[in-house]
Amino acid sequence: MNQPDHIIYICTGSKCDKKGGKECYKKGKKIIKSSKSKNVEIIRTECTDRCKLAPVACYQPENKWMLMYKQDEILAKVLHLVKKES
Ligand code: FES
Repeated sequence: MNQPDHIIYICTGSKCDKKGGKECYKKGKKIIKSSKSKNVEIIRTECTDRCKLAPVACYQPENKWMLMYKQDEILAKVLHLVKKES
C-alpha cells in the first residue's frame, strides 16, 4: 500500500459541495494523477461538522484546517507539493 507523505482531505459533504468541495477534489485529484505523484494524495470526506465554515479541507501531517477556503488556495498547495517531489 502506498503511504504518501502528504494528504489533503477535502470535505464533499452537502454544504461544502455547494461551495465547490467536489469540484476542488476532482481538480486536485487530476493534478496529482497527471504528475504521477506517489507522495501526495487527496481524499474526499463526508461532513466534518464544520459546515458553518464551509468549504473545509485539512492538510496532513501539518493538521492545518482550511476553512472557507478559495479553491485556488487548495490547488496551489497541491501543485506546490507535487513540484516539491520532482
Ligand atoms: S459539509 Fe463540509 S463540514 Fe459539513
